[in-house]
Amino acid sequence: MSVFSISSDDLVDGLPRSDAEARQWCSLLESGAVLYFPQTPVPIPEEDLALLLRLKQTESSQHKNIAYKPNRDLLTGVDEKASTSDEISGLHLAMHRYSSSVVQFLAKFLAPYHQRWQLDYASYRPFEENGRDLSMRRRNDLLHTDAFPTRPTHGARILRFFHKIHPDRGRDWMITEPFARLVDRFTPAKIPLPTPDNAFKRASRRLAETTGIAKLLPQLKRPPYDEFMTQLHNAMKEDAEFQLNCPKEQFSFPPGSSWMVFTETVPHAVLAGQFALEQTLLVDPRANVVPESAPIAILEKLAGAPLA
Ligand code: SIN
Ligand code: FE
Repeated sequence: MSVFSISSDDLVDGLPRSDAEARQWCSLLESGAVLYFPQTPVPIPEEDLALLLRLKQTESSQHKNIAYKPNRDLLTGVDEKASTSDEISGLHLAMHRYSSSVVQFLAKFLAPYHQRWQLDYASYRPFEENGRDLSMRRRNDLLHTDAFPTRPTHGARILRFFHKIHPDRGRDWMITEPFARLVDRFTPAKIPLPTPDNAFKRASRRLAETTGIAKLLPQLKRPPYDEFMTQLHNAMKEDAEFQLNCPKEQFSFPPGSSWMVFTETVPHAVLAGQFALEQTLLVDPRANVVPESAPIAILEKLAGAPLA
């Protein structure tokens, strides 16, 4: 697996040694690498860690994880019956602190992306992943690329920064072949290549959004790029032959480590592990060091037209 390990010796006060080095980390990510820190560069205060690990939470079919929306300082998905209001406010504060410290670190570490990203949700993943009872499309243990079916990214890349906080067990990941190979494998045999919108489709999308119909039928607001990424996500999970026979690499991220990856391009699955934190950033592909590596660029080249 293209896991690229970054030790504290590679950093000065937790940051890259130069602008050139920050660009190098960005281009590694863009080439499909997972950047892995055996020791997280974003340590979590002891009291937050203790609170996160003792949180009681029953699995519900409604919420896959606990989500924190930093732009609105909003916490969702908490099992309110299982915790006291003090515990919930402590959790809220811990998520706020985690989210801002990751953003502060990445603003320097991935300097070329800073100010060209949109801050998205953070999440706390308190459940054991091995054997979770989720529907096929929501399963995390099947190889997939990430897509947001109800919140189109319009070509922005999904960068995720993780932190494994289980005191003594790792988080077991698997990845498979690169995005361009996947597109070859799945199109046009299993899903059609995206085609640009015509004037009628563009008008229906605007209408769906202004009238609120898109809330009920989210597919109406997806531009061709997001429609394709959603179909690819589903097609991968639903293809038993692919899941069984594709080339695979496994890696276990140990306790106290962090890692980050463009999850809309690097096909991944989590097989086991409990207690992980995650922060998502939506990166403008024009801020990429190698913009041609972005999936929107790969797909637009194939389609010969703009897709978002
Ligand atoms: C995923 O994005 O599929 C899950 C990754 C994880 O929670 O480790
Ligand atoms: Fe995923």
